[in-house]
Amino acid sequence: MTAGASAASGVIGRARARAGTNIALVKYWGKRDRALNLPAAGSLSLTLDGLGSDTEVTFLAGRPAGPNAPDEVLLDGQPADATTAARVSRFLDLVRARAGSRAPARVRTHNSVPTAAGLASSASGFAALALAATRAARLDLSPRELSELARRGSGSAARSIFGGLVELHAGSAPDGGDAVAEQILPPGAWDLRLVVAITSDARKALSSTAAMERTANSSPYFPAWVDAVAGDLAAARAAIAARDLDSLGAVTERSCLRMHACALAADPGVLYWNPVTVALIHAVRALREAVAPAYFTIDAGPHVKVLCAAAHADAVRDRLAAVPGVLRTLVAGPGPGVQLVSADAPSSSPLA
Ligand code: PMV
Repeated sequence: MTAGASAASGVIGRARARAGTNIALVKYWGKRDRALNLPAAGSLSLTLDGLGSDTEVTFLAGRPAGPNAPDEVLLDGQPADATTAARVSRFLDLVRARAGSRAPARVRTHNSVPTAAGLASSASGFAALALAATRAARLDLSPRELSELARRGSGSAARSIFGGLVELHAGSAPDGGDAVAEQILPPGAWDLRLVVAITSDARKALSSTAAMERTANSSPYFPAWVDAVAGDLAAARAAIAARDLDSLGAVTERSCLRMHACALAADPGVLYWNPVTVALIHAVRALREAVAPAYFTIDAGPHVKVLCAAAHADAVRDRLAAVPGVLRTLVAGPGPGVQLVSADAPSSSPLA
């Protein structure tokens, strides 16, 4: 615990929010503006049920936020590492600037994504933080505004504001006002599942931001990757409208392989896969022939996520769990967008 926030006297606003993580079917890989965290191209994802972040933000009276009154950031009850705490504080600075406040905050986040599950908690984390922090600061943002704000924390977080199948638009406005997400299909409209095969407990070797930057700066395939995304998005939208799993699965796999091919061609090459990742790709292709329609995707790590119909999730899970080297499996369905759990902002105390 840091001294500043815990020593501050009173609570001047508090809110708690919950968000599910999401897995991209059409990948986001590369930024067109690092400061505003603007994506080079659009992306499309499925927000998951039951795997996400529950975040409470409390703004405290006392000295202005800064070195003498730092924000206190707890992740699953433990103080966050310095890099994460600084990233959260920079995000809170955006909320403070908007609210005209300098109050330090206490942030408590619990992730329902199992530890070292290899599922991005930044997507659900910054989506929940965006809603909790703005409500604690007595700001009432629309979902679109929340998506724009969450994007500043993590590109994929912009998508977790919405439930179900969600598209994040690349946008073209220099201020990023149109680089926001939009729901394509609500969570109850298509009974999909993602089966996650965990292949390692090691921490991510290279952050997605660093890897994206290296790819954009040095991969000769980066322009071709960016050019291909619009076509993949159009195909994914059409497949979703028709509830056509085979077509959505085909786009999902090619977007994943193109993203990784582009990153592999960076200098030095970015390789997130391990031998079990490759074995799982083969296993998914084989089970697609023999068992049920199922399609893989892989993010900035060695785990494999497999899209299938709810009716086939158990069979797919059994096959993946039997691949040598798979440590654990998880199954998740479509989940809702970010939700406010509670808000309590005493009206008598000035926020600033
Ligand atoms: O949101 P970030 O900056 O952690 O990047 C996400 C990158 C991928 O997970 C690999 C792809 C995606 O669209 O989520």
